[in-house]
Formats: sequence, C-alpha cells, structure tokens
Amino acid sequence: MHIRFQIALLFGTFCSVQSFIIKASYESSAENEGYLLKDDDFSVSTLLERANLNAGKGENEPLVMFGDIAVDTDLKNADPCTARGCLWPKAPDGNVYVPFRISSAYSARERNTIMQGLASFASSTCIRFVPLDRQEDFVDIQSLSGCFSFVGRRGQGQNVSLSRRGCVFTHIVQHELLHALGFDHEQTRSDRDQNVRILLENVMQGQESNFRRIRTNNLGTPYDYNSVMHYGRFAFSSNGQPTILPIPDENAVIGRASQMSTLDIRRVNLLYRCNSTIYDKEP
Ligand SMILES: *[C@@H]1O[C@H](CO)[C@@H](O)[C@H](O)[C@H]1NC(C)=O
Ligand SMILES: *[C@@H]1O[C@H](CO)[C@@H](O)[C@H](O)[C@H]1NC(C)=O
Ligand SMILES: [Zn+2]
Repeated sequence: MHIRFQIALLFGTFCSVQSFIIKASYESSAENEGYLLKDDDFSVSTLLERANLNAGKGENEPLVMFGDIAVDTDLKNADPCTARGCLWPKAPDGNVYVPFRISSAYSARERNTIMQGLASFASSTCIRFVPLDRQEDFVDIQSLSGCFSFVGRRGQGQNVSLSRRGCVFTHIVQHELLHALGFDHEQTRSDRDQNVRILLENVMQGQESNFRRIRTNNLGTPYDYNSVMHYGRFAFSSNGQPTILPIPDENAVIGRASQMSTLDIRRVNLLYRCNSTIYDKEP
C-alpha cells in the first residue's frame, strides 16, 4: 500500500490558527454554544467511550488502544497494517469477499442489526461480507468487553468485538468493520492539523493517544468531519470542554455521523479499487 503524504499548507494553517485564537478569545465563554454534550450522545466516540470502559481487559482479549483499536500485546504496534499490507484479497470478479461469523450470543434483533451493517457495504462498495465457509481468514464477530477491532486483515480468525452492552448499532458496526478493512480514525489523519485543533488540555489523562497523528493513506480524499470514523468534539473530555475543534469554522458539525459518509464509501472503493463505473456514480 502506498502512502500519500499530504503537503502541509503551512502558511494557510498558520493564518487560520491565528484568526481562530483571536476569535476564540472573544468567544471563549460561548465556545460550546449550540453544542451540548448530550447532542453527541449517539456519536460514535461517545458510544465507544461508554462501552469501552473495560475493553480488552477480559481474559484472552487483545490490548485495546486509541479508543477501540486492538493491538498485539507483544508488538504494541498500532499500525502493522501499513507495514505488512493488510487488505482483503480481491476475487477475479472484482469483488472483495470478507468471510464472517457471528457469535450465537446475540439476540435475533441484535444479529439483524449486525447483518444490516455488513450488508450496507454491498450496496455501495465491492466489499461482500459472506458467511464463513472454510476460508482461512475471516472476521469473528463476538460480544467481548466493548467495541473494538484490529486495523486491517490479520490472517485467520480475527475478533471484531461488538459488545451487546452498547455496541450493536449500525454505525458502530460500520465503524468497526472499516477498521477491519484497514481504516484508521479520521482525526488521526496526516493532514488533520489543517482541519481540526486538538485541545489536549481538555483530554482525560491517559487518553492522549486517541489524538495522535499518523501517516494515513488519505487516498487523495478530503478530510471529512462527517466520517463515521471521526470522533465528536467532546471525545475523551476530562472536563466537558471540547477536545476537537474544527478549523477554521469552529461551529462546523463533527463526528455525528449515523452512517458511513459519501467519503467513507469513496475511500473503501479507492482502497479496494472497486469498479468505478459501478460505484462512483456521484457527480
Ligand atoms: C477471540 O476472542 C476469544 C474470546 O475472548 C478468545 O478466546 C480468542 O482467543 C480470540 N481469538 C483470537 C484469534 O485472538
Ligand atoms: C465494470 O462494470 C461495468 C458495468 O457493469 C462492466 O461493463 C465492466 O466490464 C467492469 N469492469 C471491470 C474491470 O470489471
Ligand atoms: Zn474506532
């Protein structure tokens, strides 16, 4: 997988940060106006935060870092994906078949929600989640202690945890499977500092790594506040103050996607080279 380094528009960033600081000093008391914590109740990051208080702490569970990303305890490397190539293979017919298995621990209704999340990929991308049938590599969907997934294909059965306690929502299913397909959080993108300001002073102690920046493969797509992989503005806040503010317009809505965005879908189609005559129909 090639990594595209976004060219930082340093001058532009500097100017917008400057104007932000000036503006913020006038408006600091009204910084959250129109943005109440409760409005983010259903955001991906709020749900993850709530469900993941004990994530990865069960027996035989992987280490969970960066909110909901499973990592190998021996490696402590969050991104083996880019280093070793972690895409799911493409079949001769152009589709990418990802075998799955769903634990019998779920109720019929929960199972249905998970199936809907899986099926949503087939309507807009060349990803096809198919029931496990002796394939070697597959996603093993289980209700472990929280919502988490490895990034990319790991080989053999890889657990994707969707806890019955707080993770069985279509957008969370999509979020965790996007990790399994190789995607990271939007706010960790290489070009995020041109698009959001991280307020580490408001971040809970020990949760700073959620806001790291990594060399993501942005596939030439613009930064996306509406990505189902983007955290909300109060993610991992220690004090009810924002931890992520969009720039230059701090009032832009971020991290409230209730489903994969147009850009999330486009990125899947780009990463997996889906047939563009079928899937790139937008203007
Ligand atoms: C998946 O989760 C189960 C239950 O915690 C665990 O026993 C198993 O070892 C895990 N599988 C892998 C490949 O880590
Ligand atoms: C892409 O899809 C179109 C329309 O179905 C088809 O005609 C074409 O052969 C496909 N191309 C590839 C490379 O699969
Ligand atoms: Zn995540």
